Amino acid sequence: MGKRFLSMILSASLLLMLSLCGCSSGKSTAKGSNYLGRQSGILDFTDDPDDPDDPAKPTGGGRPGKLPDEKKVGISFPTKDLMRWDQDGDILRKELAAEGYTVVLNFADNRVDVQTSQIESQISEGCSVIVVAPVDGNALGTVLKEAKQKGVTVVAYDRLIMSTADVDYYISFDNYLTGALQGEYIRDALSLDSAAGPFNLEIFAGDAGDNNAASFYNGAMDVLSPYIDSGKLVVVSGQKDFNDVATAAWKTDLAQTRMENLLASFYSDGTQLDAVLCSNDSTALGVTNALASNYTGKYPVITGQDCDKANVKNILAGWQSMSVFKDTRTMAEQTVRMVSDIMEGKAPEINDTATYYNGMKNVPAYLCTPVYVDESNYKTILIDSGFYTMADIT
Ligand code: BGC
Repeated sequence: MGKRFLSMILSASLLLMLSLCGCSSGKSTAKGSNYLGRQSGILDFTDDPDDPDDPAKPTGGGRPGKLPDEKKVGISFPTKDLMRWDQDGDILRKELAAEGYTVVLNFADNRVDVQTSQIESQISEGCSVIVVAPVDGNALGTVLKEAKQKGVTVVAYDRLIMSTADVDYYISFDNYLTGALQGEYIRDALSLDSAAGPFNLEIFAGDAGDNNAASFYNGAMDVLSPYIDSGKLVVVSGQKDFNDVATAAWKTDLAQTRMENLLASFYSDGTQLDAVLCSNDSTALGVTNALASNYTGKYPVITGQDCDKANVKNILAGWQSMSVFKDTRTMAEQTVRMVSDIMEGKAPEINDTATYYNGMKNVPAYLCTPVYVDESNYKTILIDSGFYTMADIT
């Protein structure tokens, strides 16, 4: 039987099914759901307790889960504890809901097993696109294989998903540039090109299982390494390789303990600490906590990332010098656009196809541009843009 004949038979049977169910045969748009299973119920064999449109159906002998639903999006984020994920989740959920999507939003308590089972549930609940910021970029291969088999499109959000071909897109801020902004800030604040120096530096990177952590570190170290090599910058502890300066799960208390140990071992004799490269705000918070009770010298330049409220307060108080701002609103807007394009069968907008190799493939990416915030520009960037009110950060 020729391929063409076979496809005619298949199309005819599909049309017959559609007319029996009273469904439109047109492609459903992101705004108006025409999904066959949802309207007819014939392909919908499991109950979704969170979904008011989805009354319980008999499950005996049925399929293991729903077929992907063109209106349902899963979001799986690492933790609710850090302000940035909580805020990203909130904005994204609202924006996707405003476009008419049902959103299943889960936070994984920074645990790989929790994240895996949440993604499994999102697949079996019928999400057709799942947006994932992985707890551990290397740990999702098996569950994403399942997603792929069920026809689910997977978007890695903010953090790249590694070592799998079953991730379709990546949306993030330019992570290398984020690190470079931190390195440049230290370079300029200490006038490394003109001042005599030498200046003392310590380094706090992020979680080794997060691909971003290495990108931030590389971006910053590409700026700072020449000064370390020339002796203008001195890492007094000698701890400068990524694995020596990584902070498990980006935890504030771990950064604090490490900074306390560094202060006790290398700075208690009055040695001046001039700068601390911190990859993000949670690590910066640990460092400033440690300095508050264990350091009396001239306060160092301290970097960060995310512009969490507590850290912006610290910037205004002079306890942190800068934080890289990754405007969640921009990324949410772009993510909604990407999800809608995928749902509508269009190719999503991509602006990088070469940088994000995950060990299996170059993941097509859309990268947003980060900017730094410090005392001199926070009003324009955070307040005038409506991201925070003054009351949020004072
Ligand atoms: C994100 C940062 C965040 C860090 C800790 C990184 O992957 O890009 O914005 O501070 O994770 O959650």
